[in-house]
Amino acid sequence: MKKQRIFSGIQPSGNLTLGNYLGALRNWVALQEEYECIYSIVDMHAITVRQNPQELRERSLLTMALYLAAGLDPQENIVFIQSHVPEHAQLGWILGCNSYMGELSRMTQYKDKSSRMGDSIPTGLFNYPVLMAADILLYNAHLVPVGEDQTQHLELTRDIAVRFNNAYGETFVIPKGYFNPFGARIYDLQTPEKIMSKSSQNQQGILFLLDDEKTLKRKISRSVTDSLGTISYNDHQPGVKNLLNIFALLRELSIEESLAYFEGKGYKQLKDGVTEAVLDSLLPLQKKVNELMDNRSYLEDLMLHGAQRARALAKVTLADVEEKIGFIPRRTDEYRD
Ligand code: TRP
Repeated sequence: MKKQRIFSGIQPSGNLTLGNYLGALRNWVALQEEYECIYSIVDMHAITVRQNPQELRERSLLTMALYLAAGLDPQENIVFIQSHVPEHAQLGWILGCNSYMGELSRMTQYKDKSSRMGDSIPTGLFNYPVLMAADILLYNAHLVPVGEDQTQHLELTRDIAVRFNNAYGETFVIPKGYFNPFGARIYDLQTPEKIMSKSSQNQQGILFLLDDEKTLKRKISRSVTDSLGTISYNDHQPGVKNLLNIFALLRELSIEESLAYFEGKGYKQLKDGVTEAVLDSLLPLQKKVNELMDNRSYLEDLMLHGAQRARALAKVTLADVEEKIGFIPRRTDEYRD
């Protein structure tokens, strides 16, 4: 039986956090056997907010290294940089011509991000979900692992795909979200009501995957708990709950097992336990990332390999779409590379 296809991506717009690792990366690795997986580093999405070019380049490479260090097999999966496959922009344009201002204006992420931008809202920020739809539809992905903050974009992707299929005939697979049954959301250690996001202002509550040992220890030891003093798992103790989630996920234990582990112990020991678990996972990951970053030509070869494989698939979909909407087929590809 043919495997179902998965597509997902992370923006190289900030330093990846433990939330990205536990919420996305580590789960992607678990999917690589069962599905045909395509994972992208979506640098074209990152530039919807102004980026420092040097930093963007460095972060894109680092994200690639992190994908690999986390265990994504670049032969088993297709791993590539979005801007290396120009079909994303091409399909994005066509889909933009089949999307409506009204539906894009209703996207909550757009409303949030643009609310402080006055008259200077980049149209790329507005069109962002259309590009995301192109990412997914180009590969006819069946499933898209995303966090809750992206479900509205995925819904829009489905709407656009259905609309296109209705207008031009069966073209796109209608994708569904994939929600990991084992993934818990990871919250900010300082404000455990907010998710741990790489774009937060205050970094003290965020564990970055590449933070050094001292910083990780400090951030965990200063994490916000409560005055109840008992380790239990409930919504009235969001800080403690979050620490327990982190511990359980990293140690691959259930919440019950984790509670049993901390039975009769205090917050200091909880934090120490979390610190150990974090260091045991992240220090080896960092070592691998550093090794990869020291081997740029290897990373570059992998990026080329990934882009070639992605492009081979993307071209087929784009050609089909272009034919359906009435573009004259390009006879050769020679002038494009
Ligand atoms: N918008 C996603 C995010 O910020 C990143 C993304 C871009 C994506 N294209 C995608 C995720 C396609 C899944 C599928 O998290």
